[in-house]
Order: sequence, then C-alpha cells, then structure tokens
Amino acid sequence: MVKICGIGAGYVGGPTMAVIALKCPSIEVAVVDISHSRISAWNSDQLPIYEPGLEEVVKECRGKNLLFSTDVEKHVSEAEIVFLSVNTPTKARGLGAGKAADLTYWESAARMIADVSQSNKIIVEKSTVPVRTAEAIEKILAHNSKGINYQILSNPEFLSEGTAIQDLLNPDRVLIGGKESPEGQKAIQALKDIYAQWVQEDKIITTNLWSAELSKLADNAFLAQRISSINAMSALCEATGAEVSQVSLALSKNTKIGSKFLNASVGFGGSCFQKDILNLVYICEGNGLSEVANYWKQVINVNDYQKNRFVKRVISSMFNTVSGKKIAVLGFAFKKDTSDTRKTPAIDVCKGLLGDEARLSIYDPRVTEDQIQRDLSTNNVEWDHPIHLHPLNPTMVKQVSIVRDAYEATKDAHGICILTEWDEFKTLDYQKIYDDMQKPAFIFDGRNILNVGKLREIGFIVYSIGKPLDSWLKPEGHAYSGVMDIIP
Ligand code: UDX
Ligand code: UDX
Ligand code: ADP
Repeated sequence: MVKICGIGAGYVGGPTMAVIALKCPSIEVAVVDISHSRISAWNSDQLPIYEPGLEEVVKECRGKNLLFSTDVEKHVSEAEIVFLSVNTPTKARGLGAGKAADLTYWESAARMIADVSQSNKIIVEKSTVPVRTAEAIEKILAHNSKGINYQILSNPEFLSEGTAIQDLLNPDRVLIGGKESPEGQKAIQALKDIYAQWVQEDKIITTNLWSAELSKLADNAFLAQRISSINAMSALCEATGAEVSQVSLALSKNTKIGSKFLNASVGFGGSCFQKDILNLVYICEGNGLSEVANYWKQVINVNDYQKNRFVKRVISSMFNTVSGKKIAVLGFAFKKDTSDTRKTPAIDVCKGLLGDEARLSIYDPRVTEDQIQRDLSTNNVEWDHPIHLHPLNPTMVKQVSIVRDAYEATKDAHGICILTEWDEFKTLDYQKIYDDMQKPAFIFDGRNILNVGKLREIGFIVYSIGKPLDSWLKPEGHAYSGVMDIIP
C-alpha cells in the first residue's frame, strides 16, 4: 500500500487528506499535527472543524485507510509523499511585519522532514506560500539530505470553506507545479496519478513551480478584487439611488464577466484573501514594483472602507450614537456554513460598535462563545490597518453577550446587524422580532439576504448594502458630518 502523510490537520489539511483517502482506497493516508487537542478531536465524534459532508467522509475512512496522529515523525518517515498544510499566517513582527507570510511553522516542518527521512520523498506544498518558497524548502532539505532525493511540488488548494468537500470531490481544476527535470516530471506524474483516480485528466494542469505558487496568490487576489469592485459600486449606488443587486445582475449576464463573486457585502473575510494579497503586495514591493503593489493594496483598502462605512451607517442612522443601546449581531463567521472566524468582518464591525459603547448581543449558529470572546479581546496588529490598531478597553468586552438564538439576541434590541448570510436568518419571524424590539427598530443587512420591502411593511427602518436608502436614512446636506469616525 502506498503511504502518504499530511502534515497539518486544519481547514485545508483535514478535508483534503480525508477526500484523498475516500477516493483512493489503496493509499494509506496519515494526517499528523503537533496539536494534541486537534488530533483527538479528529479521532472523536466532534470534529475540530465544521464543514458540510466532512463528518460522513471521515467516518467512512477513519480506521480503514485514514488515521489521525500526533506521531508526526513516524508517519513522515514512512511516507512516500508528504503534503504540507501547516499554517502560514501574516508575520506579526520583524522584517515584513504585517505583510509577509510567517514561515516559522512551515520551516520547522521542513526541518523535521529532513531530520526523520530515510528514503526519497515527494514533498507537496499545499499551504499558500510566497512565490519561490519551494526553493527555500529545497535548501533546508538539501543541506540535511543524507543522500536522500526530495522532489518539491506546488499543489495549491482551491477549496472554499463551507463547500470544501464538494470542491474537493469535484474541483474546477487541480494545479501541480514541479521542476522541468525528468525527476520533477516523474514526481508530477505520481501526484497526477492520485488525483486522476477521481478528477478528469483535462482538469489537471501542470506548470512550473513558480507559476503554480503565483497562481494561487493571483487566484485569491482576483476573487477579492471582484468583491471590492462591487462593494465600491455599492457605495455609489447608495449615493445615487441605483441598486447594487441590479447592477450585479446586469454585469453577471456579460459572459466576459460572469456571475460569481459579485455579491456586495459588509466586506470579505476569511483566512486567505487579505493574507494572500498582503503577501502579493510584499513580493511586488520586494521586486521594486510599487505601482503593482499599490494596485493590489487598494483591494484591501476598499474592504476596510466597506466595513467602516457599515459601522458609520449604523451609528449615524441611530441618531449619531449607539452608546448604551443594545445591538443584536446575527452571524459572526466570515461566511455561512463554517465555524471559522479568521478575518471575519464581524470582528471589525463589532469593535467599531463597541468603540461607540454599544451593548452587543451576538448569535451565530456555529461559532462558539469562547471563540467570539477571544476574537473581540485580542488585537491583531496588522499592516497599516487603522481599524485593528484600536486597543479594546476591557470594560468594552463586558458589553458583549453571546446568546443561543436570534430571538434572544434581538429581544429589546434597538437595532440588528446581519453580518453572516446564514440561511436561517432568512426565515426568522421578523414580525415577532419587531414586536419585541425597542422602537424605532432598525435592521442593517450587511449581506443583502432580507426582503427589504416586507421588513419596511412590518415597520422596520432598513439599511441594505448598495440599495436605495430608507427615507429615514437619507442624508441631508453633508451626509455624515458629526458622526464619530472610527478611524483615528
Ligand atoms: C468594449 C466592451 O467589451 C464592450 O462590451 C463595450 O460595449 C465597448 O467597449 P471594445 O472597446 O470594442 O469593447 O473592445 P474590447 O474587446 O473590450 O477590448 C478593449 C481593449 O482591451 C482592447 O484594446 C483590447 O485589446 C484590450 N484587451 C481585451 C486586453 O488587453 N486583454 C483582454 O483580455 C481583452
Ligand atoms: C477563498 C477562495 O474562494 C478559495 O478559492 C481559496 O482556495 C481560499 O480562499 P474562502 O476564504 O473559504 O475561499 O471563502 P470565499 O467563498 O471565497 O469567501 C471569502 C469572503 O468573501 C467571505 O467573507 C465571503 O462572505 C465574501 N464574499 C464572497 C462576498 O462578500 N461576496 C461574494 O460575492 C463572495
Ligand atoms: P489552514 O486553514 O491553512 O488549514 P490551520 O491553522 O487550520 O490552517 O491548520 C494548520 C495546522 O497545522 C494546525 O492544526 C497546526 O497545529 C499544524 N501545524 C503547524 N506546524 C506544524 C508542524 N511543524 N507539524 C505538524 N503540524 C503543524
């Protein structure tokens, strides 16, 4: 039986290795991680991450050809192919802080591979890494090689959280980058043979190493750019009376543009978009391409602007202050169908509202209370992000309660902010919610999932991103003069 090992049992490594095990019964797949709590969760009924369909796949394979272990060294030394899916966060300090990728975990994994290997191996980069990382890994391995031959491949993961299993079972494409040498081509073929067990051959693209690494950063930058483009349009729609969903629809029918990733929102979140764009910006700067760096940086600037604009809209609508008012926050995850809160716009919006001394009552169907508290009490110092630089006063954290359903969150609230597009928020009994709220009752729909007309009929004052403003919210004279600005 061929043995493969996945290092890193996170959002990428866990589902990816589980699907390989499902589709390749003749391969023994070991998923290893240094975190004991993560591994014991993977071995229990309560998996460490929520992902539709994941539990079924794990249950089907675990104990057969899929195992989860903290014995990293044993499984790495036995494997012919090692997938690296360790975390590569943005560097918090030192050279390139706030922009460059932090390769500490990744480097220590590479050193460990070099230490424990006794036979030739193919090393597959799954984590998104800066371009030419393969070169660095090669140096670490070569210096400790004991005569062992390593082939490095870049095989970036394109799954989206919330649809990871579907994306893995039925990918748009699989990208494999490797060396052009005969050994490199042989390694590419070995990995291709694994994917070919369930992916059509014409969807498997092979390139050189650097193209594969850069394609992943480019992919995320292009997707995020579409969201910032439509979000920028949403601000103009609000100012002019156009409707962003109508503009999106019109754009989507242009086959040159296409229909996906055109939903205006309170802003994009998730572990990839911001991190990968910052990484791209850093690489451009390092290569003296300041215009290119500035172009991509603007995608993040618009995203910050969008989150800020939302907070300002809430505060200005509610008589220029939310101090002491109860605001129900529905949704905290960075998108629906995931428990992940990394870089969720909810963090910035909540911090902005707390900055004006709101009392928050937060409900998310999948995110734990601990996670929300942790997200709101830590300060991520990142790049030149004014929002993140706000130190959160400990008394503000006391202004937050995390509750178990949407009705509890909205009871006696002055306003509601929808920050994640969970399906269950579409079918709540808004008449009941309205009856139990303070009046006037406000709803700020940061995901454009609600029927604005119906809510207005009930009596709500409604703000929806990029839609014509409720007469209540229409600015007179200077739009937001006097509104507290959350950017210092
Ligand atoms: C454009 C729009 O496509 C069309 O929908 C609109 O109604 C009028 O403007 P046009 O200007 O005639 O049409 O040509 P188009 O094919 O869009 O090309 C515009 C420019 O972009 C050209 O200089 C073209 O060479 C360039 N281009 C286009 C690229 O450089 N790369 C591409 O991938 C596509
Ligand atoms: C993304 C990429 O889609 C995936 O290809 C890559 O491999 C990893 O990063 P993910 O971060 O899981 O996946 O989620 P995605 O669906 O891309 O959403 C990212 C953010 O953009 C979310 O906060 C989402 O709510 C937001 N979004 C998405 C919008 O605001 N509008 C849209 O139209 C689409
Ligand atoms: P991603 O979204 O990229 O999958 P996660 O943070 O969810 O990121 O997962 C990365 C995992 O990698 C974590 O569970 C972490 O404990 C693990 N990890 C980091 N460094 C190592 C290492 N040297 N050996 C094994 N596992 C590691």
